Amino acid sequence: MKDSYQIAVVPGDGIGPEVTDAALDVLRAAFGGELPLAFTEYPAGAELYRRTGESFPDATFQACRDADAVLHGAAGIPGVVHPDGTEAGLDFTLRLRFELDLFANIRPVRLYAGVRSPLAGVEAGQIDYVILRENSEGLYAARGAGAQLRGEMAVDTLVQTRKGVERIVRQAFEIARASNGAPADGVRRVTCVDKANVLRSYAFFRSIFDEVSKDYPDIEAEHGLIDAMAMYLVTRPGHYNVIVTENMFGDILSDLAAATIGGMGLAPSAEVGLSRGLFQAAHGSAPDIAGLGIANPYGTVLSAASMLEWLGRREADDRLVSAAARIRRASEKAIGDGALTRDLGGTADTASVVKRLCACLDA
Ligand code: IPM
Ligand code: MN
Repeated sequence: MKDSYQIAVVPGDGIGPEVTDAALDVLRAAFGGELPLAFTEYPAGAELYRRTGESFPDATFQACRDADAVLHGAAGIPGVVHPDGTEAGLDFTLRLRFELDLFANIRPVRLYAGVRSPLAGVEAGQIDYVILRENSEGLYAARGAGAQLRGEMAVDTLVQTRKGVERIVRQAFEIARASNGAPADGVRRVTCVDKANVLRSYAFFRSIFDEVSKDYPDIEAEHGLIDAMAMYLVTRPGHYNVIVTENMFGDILSDLAAATIGGMGLAPSAEVGLSRGLFQAAHGSAPDIAGLGIANPYGTVLSAASMLEWLGRREADDRLVSAAARIRRASEKAIGDGALTRDLGGTADTASVVKRLCACLDA
């Protein structure tokens, strides 16, 4: 436990600065006068790349590596790309994932009261699961290392290692053990999502899942093929408790999952390793609405709550753990009260959601 924690804040592009400011306001309010966090802002992103030719300065990288945690808004501007065609705005997130070994991407999927799911007849409380996305290998391991040959062919390689799969699967079972189980039946359950019927790399992932599952006889273990899972998350979301999957599958499935709970604006994410963490909403930089003051701040606010919980547990600091719970309760209440931005069918702007959130913190 420390008196104060260093938080590296990287606002990024598009709506990134707006949602970051919103989260900082809520964090400050959650602690009242005694803020145990020191925020320092650092530049990175596509706009920086456009201006300077550099998307992620070394000074920012070092600050992120040395901080207690990193809070990120969002990054990326369509068309701002490297010579190989990949987006410069993504360098920040991807480099941190690989170089700080942020192997676990924890994405809670929860339907709040006050939000209408596009799934007919599905009510608040009936969707409540975690997608645990492997975040350091899989298909993304090929970032910057694939090959393109004479404009005729291109190759990226999907990588699974025993160490990488084992640690993510183990974490999935630990999350399930600490949870209340699936909404439909209360069963603590981990679903391994792969394409083991077609590719060796996924059969390998599944075999390690089966080995690790033996250490958790109290948790139900099951398999799901990625294509079928895209259907099941729509037809029976209440069955799921914890889903563990390869990097790219987790990326895709988490957007689908977000759609079932009202959209990307309500999808937080925590990317953590053994001693470092990056916290940012799962949504992108939404350049079309940047600067209008109408961005949905909940994803970033809830990611900031995850940051406090992760840091608070690691440092055995109850000030942070209880502030995380306050922010989550306030979010639930504000959403339930109808403080909704346009993407959620409401009319509130970012500032009024923040105001409502801060008022709900004391409730
Ligand atoms: C996400 C995003 C990222 C990804 C980008 C920002 C690199 O889509 O976190 O889901 O593709 O993983
Ligand atoms: Mn994504």
